[in-house]
Amino acid sequence: MSKLLFIQTLGCAMNVRDSEHIIAELKSKEDYALTDDIKKADLILINTCSVREKPVNKLFSEIGSFEKVKKDGAKIGVLGCTASHLGDEIFKRAPYVDFVLGARNTSKISKAVNTPKFISTDINYDDSEYAFGDFRTSKYKAFVNIMIGCDKKCSYCIVPQTRGDEISIPANLILKEVEKSVNSGAKEIFLLGQNVNNYGRRFSNSHEKIDFSDLLVKISDVKGVERIRFTSPHPLHMDDKFLDVFVNNDKICKSMHMPLQSGSTRVLKAMRRGYTKEWFLDRALKLREMCPDVSISTDIIVAYPGESDEDFLDTMDVLEKVRFEQIFSFKFSPRPLTPAANLPMIDDEIASRRLSTLQNRHTQILDEITQKELGKVHRVYFEELRDGFQVAGRSFNNFMVSVKGSEELLGKTLDVKITNPKRMVLYGEIVS
Ligand code: 5AD
Ligand code: SF4
Repeated sequence: MSKLLFIQTLGCAMNVRDSEHIIAELKSKEDYALTDDIKKADLILINTCSVREKPVNKLFSEIGSFEKVKKDGAKIGVLGCTASHLGDEIFKRAPYVDFVLGARNTSKISKAVNTPKFISTDINYDDSEYAFGDFRTSKYKAFVNIMIGCDKKCSYCIVPQTRGDEISIPANLILKEVEKSVNSGAKEIFLLGQNVNNYGRRFSNSHEKIDFSDLLVKISDVKGVERIRFTSPHPLHMDDKFLDVFVNNDKICKSMHMPLQSGSTRVLKAMRRGYTKEWFLDRALKLREMCPDVSISTDIIVAYPGESDEDFLDTMDVLEKVRFEQIFSFKFSPRPLTPAANLPMIDDEIASRRLSTLQNRHTQILDEITQKELGKVHRVYFEELRDGFQVAGRSFNNFMVSVKGSEELLGKTLDVKITNPKRMVLYGEIVS
């Protein structure tokens, strides 16, 4: 009988994909099967995130609770970005942990489970060409890594310390993975990287010159690919060629993540983002003009050290001008090993006030956007059962759309007329 694996994944889509790789390895090489019941598990894994302080604190409370409920002899492993960044401090703070495997060391999972107190957190380790087995969380969409690591040195960000330098995965391997995914039923391909539109700057082998726009075109030519999404692009690298391919290739879903971080050119400079408020606005508004149906999402940090009221108003100004369909917003959180780690912090009350001003205004904008969806028809790829009698999927421009229905809709792409638009979900009826 197989041994049982319980795995919890925190953080971003990259972590979701790393967990899939780990599950694939443990299934094929170590004969594990997945379980949702932690008490029955022989191996308990947590794939961690260290982007802000909160998820790091969560790690120690989570593994403490694992230790209490685990069955005798079950192993606990800590993976991912916090494993990279804390290393053997994890053993010191939680001696019952059996192994620690950093985000750039996923391919060593078999060794980790078989070696007492194994630790590997090398951020220079290159597993960009490592061939993983098959495991996908969703039958309908496939995450495909196109690069590992990140070469940007944003002053607030810990990722270069946890995932190392940027290496692009050779295009032939990516295309093979895309073909494999399509052949096993995924119509949607979700490309992953810290900085996807910087693809092609450095490969682990000598490789023909190819940039992200060229890669998108190659992927769109693979038979069976119906939808392509990607995350995260960087506003700095949104050149005209990229916008042109994005807008005019009809397999590329019309939703763009444009991580703003701050609307103030002064703060952007301090953050080392490499673009100005004007550049960001130019790109976002050009995109809206070229592609009126596009959804634009963003990440915003408020109260970066030194952010004045005026700087914050610049962020609010960009919000008004771009009217993002979705924002992910955070108070600045100082991260160890980053240039901004020891800068004087903005008073927390001010930070909280700015965050709620931003979020409240965005909610109003979103309500206005949502109401305009009433009566529109969206092409929806159904991929998820909800509450027993609803089936949901994404519109081409990334709205979550839900209709009455059951399993037989899963995997189908159908036109839906929106009859009851809500902030998070547009409810509708199938029209074809
Ligand atoms: N503090 C707050 N938010 C951060 N992010 C990254 N680092 C920090 C930090 N130190 C946010 C950024 C990034 C998102 C994934 O997390 O907005 O785009
Ligand atoms: Fe993903 Fe960044 Fe969190 Fe690592 S630190 S899991 S790269 S969001």
